[in-house]
Amino acid sequence: MGHGKIIHAVTHEYTNTYVPKNLSAISLVRLFDTDPEDESETTLGSILSENEYCKREDVFLIVKVHPRNLGKEATRVSIERSMKRLKTDYIDLVLIKAPSCDTKGFECDADENRGTWQESWKVMEEMNKTGSIRSIGVSNFKISQLKELMAEATVPVSVLQARFDLMKRNTKLRKFCNYNGIRFMAHSLLGFGWVKDGSTTNNPILSSSAVMLAARKYRTSPASILIRYALDRDITVVPRSSNQLHIALNKFSTSLDNQDSPEILEDLENIPHVP
Ligand SMILES: NC(=O)c1ccc[n+]([C@@H]2O[C@H](COP(=O)([O-])OP(=O)(O)OC[C@H]3O[C@@H](n4cnc5c(N)ncnc54)[C@H](OP(=O)(O)O)[C@@H]3O)[C@@H](O)[C@H]2O)c1
Repeated sequence: MGHGKIIHAVTHEYTNTYVPKNLSAISLVRLFDTDPEDESETTLGSILSENEYCKREDVFLIVKVHPRNLGKEATRVSIERSMKRLKTDYIDLVLIKAPSCDTKGFECDADENRGTWQESWKVMEEMNKTGSIRSIGVSNFKISQLKELMAEATVPVSVLQARFDLMKRNTKLRKFCNYNGIRFMAHSLLGFGWVKDGSTTNNPILSSSAVMLAARKYRTSPASILIRYALDRDITVVPRSSNQLHIALNKFSTSLDNQDSPEILEDLENIPHVP
């Protein structure tokens, strides 16, 4: 997983509808970013185990631990449940989805979340050492929390998954990750985060004139432009799609030749944004 590689997120609808065909052309989909809160693990597990064209080592599986499962025992149970659903005896990357429960997307019931992310990390380190998890990381952590984690960790923090789009660039956090050898993986890259958090009803990024102009210039989709913008900044991307045409277009962003009129892509820098 790294610079220049495009990797795809997986959803329940996506696995049901498109994975069987796509896995016969495995070059299209190599990484699956699953979520324990939906059906993606179970569906993907069935498809992978039945697909004759796809070996386990051909795909990279990401599993997340929801903050309701923070703590020693709950985290172990959550990861083992994910492995069972995915029908695999190892996971390539496990992420703590958020450092704590909150009211903005990481809701927990009153009797949940009795443990801490520090306890979860220790369990993940143990599972890494026994080989059932190949690499470990976190999501939605701030710099202060990453510093605390790095001070305690005995296994490297391989990935931070956090929000990144043209209008919310998380520059300091990305610099911190680059400096400390943590791969920055963007979620919400295509701009729907602004719709999801209620800031606006239309995706302000996909409809931005600078993005549309660039898409027209390079004869591709606005989403491909956004993916390429992120890849050019050494950001790992996991664009989610349940649409086969979108998936193909998104993959095209890696081969997009942007040498002609590079100023059109540079204009994207000038879109008003939170650094
Ligand atoms: N760690 C976290 O807290 C967190 C939070 C959010 C997301 N994530 C993860 O990040 C990954 C990405 O998901 P996301 O929610 O951030 O979404 P995203 O990838 O930014 O956007 C997904 C949306 O973009 C649309 N789309 C994809 N390709 C397109 C194209 N070429 N043209 C037009 N529309 C296109 C999809 O619709 P179609 O299906 O119609 O293509 C879908 O509605 C997922 O794996 C998700 O689990 C993590």
